[in-house]
Amino acid sequence: MRFFIDTANLEQIRQARDLGILDGVTTNPSLMAHENIHGHAAIMAHYRQICEMVDGDVSAEVFSTDLDGMLAEAHELSAIHKNIVVKVPCTTEGIKAIKALSARKIPTNCTLVFNAGQAVLAAKAGARYVSPFVGRLDDASEDGVALVAQIVRIFDIYGYQTQVLAASIRHTRHIIDCMEAGAHVVTCPLQPILGLLNHPLTEKGLAKFLEDAAKMK
Ligand code: E4P
Repeated sequence: MRFFIDTANLEQIRQARDLGILDGVTTNPSLMAHENIHGHAAIMAHYRQICEMVDGDVSAEVFSTDLDGMLAEAHELSAIHKNIVVKVPCTTEGIKAIKALSARKIPTNCTLVFNAGQAVLAAKAGARYVSPFVGRLDDASEDGVALVAQIVRIFDIYGYQTQVLAASIRHTRHIIDCMEAGAHVVTCPLQPILGLLNHPLTEKGLAKFLEDAAKMK
């Protein structure tokens, strides 16, 4: 079970890394824009900084929607650092790009996955990861965790090496549910990760221990 952080914010990445449990990072154009990064050179430099902070896969998403554009961007992104995984949308052109990149041994993360059929096509094309969007499915009154479980079952049946990377995590409970569903990786914002540590009985118990420890001074 691996944890990625789903942000382009360097401070949050540092906090998760310093916990000692961080296995990688996922970004997307919205998360990058949120950091007020402008211009091609700044974007490349930002990905490089992230790669230097975290020893694990770092997903960087293509902005193009056509095959040639995706492939050109993918080559440029993967040249930034050995840990870059090229994030490609689950479209017709995206599946072709994943297939071509897989043949060139460039790892990919197929993003915007909302059903099992999309996940299977991405796996057949050779994606390293597929990213079902749990929270966005829940937002649409569907069951995001059930999709994660379904994709895990199908990949097990057929022996696909592609890993299920549960994305669009909204809260701590999603993390637990995705782990139970067999997700290989969960990518989430910092707060749901920190939320895993929250329990009132831990706080209450520690307060009592500290109180009793003070009596022995
Ligand atoms: C990660 O790979 C996705 O881009 C991200 O988890 C989407 O999350 P959101 O639905 O909260 O935007």
